Amino acid sequence: MIVCCCNAIRETEVREAARTGACSVGQAYARKGCKVKCGSCLPFARAIIAEERAAIAANPPKVAA
Ligand code: FES
Repeated sequence: MIVCCCNAIRETEVREAARTGACSVGQAYARKGCKVKCGSCLPFARAIIAEERAAIAANPPKVAA
C-alpha cells in the first residue's frame, strides 16, 4: 500500500525505516531520499512508525553477551 502519494513511499518502506531506527516521518522518508511535501500522509505514516516502535519496545532484539 502506498502511504505517501507525493513520494510513492510504501507502507513496507516506512515500517522497515522504523524498524531500523527512524523515529519520525522525516527520518523515514529521508531513507528514500525524500521529504514530506503536502503532509496528507503524516497521520498514517506516524501511526505506522508508532506501531513498529511499540512492537520493538515490547519485544526488544536480544543482544549477544
Ligand atoms: S502524500 Fe506524503 S507528502 Fe504528500
